[in-house]
Amino acid sequence: MRIDIISVVPGLLESPFGFSILKRAIDKKLVEINVINLRDYATSKHKTVDDYPYGGGAGMVMMIEPIDRCISALQAERTYDEVIYLSPDGDLLDQPMANRMSSSKNLIMLCGHYKGVDERVRKHLITREISIGNYVLSGGELAAAVLCDTIIRLIPGVLSDETSALSDSFQDNLIAPPAYTRPAEYNGLKVPDILLSGNTPEVEKWRHEQSLERTRDRRPELLR
Ligand code: ADE
Repeated sequence: MRIDIISVVPGLLESPFGFSILKRAIDKKLVEINVINLRDYATSKHKTVDDYPYGGGAGMVMMIEPIDRCISALQAERTYDEVIYLSPDGDLLDQPMANRMSSSKNLIMLCGHYKGVDERVRKHLITREISIGNYVLSGGELAAAVLCDTIIRLIPGVLSDETSALSDSFQDNLIAPPAYTRPAEYNGLKVPDILLSGNTPEVEKWRHEQSLERTRDRRPELLR
């Protein structure tokens, strides 16, 4: 998979891909992340990528021209499954959406800033708008990093134990059961006996019951 992320603050995307699972996925060439500075596609002397909104009002709007030049240059090289705009008014990201997108070959992610982008970008250049939650971020970069993380960890070979993504919270619309590790007792706080029993079928049954109970308790809307 290849992901091209278009940003006006590319530095914001330096660290999310430099550690742990995402770094390993990149090192193993299971994914290629290409962060593009939108200013490289600006035509004006001052590398302007935003301007005042027509009709007045507060905030700047990202211009169509640099975005069009950038997306066109990418699309001249390869075909993209989606051209995504990260925006609080997009489709809400969830696990099924991440599962579907993890089989993409090439993705473009456009990170918004200022008061948003010229509506013509959204209407004509973008194929999909995605929100990571009902709150407003200062820009789309952190949302793009979240979206990349959810997708990349599902690419076969990225997680060392391939079954571990299948047992994640939300994969079966249940949240994950409680987990414990050594010591078996800490300051009087004990690990449930069943987990020390070595009886795998009983452990699995207990975990499933715990998942159901937790989901009912914390996220009942997932069961509906
Ligand atoms: N840009 C600003 N807020 C956002 C959000 N919640 N999701 C995606 N992109 C955003």
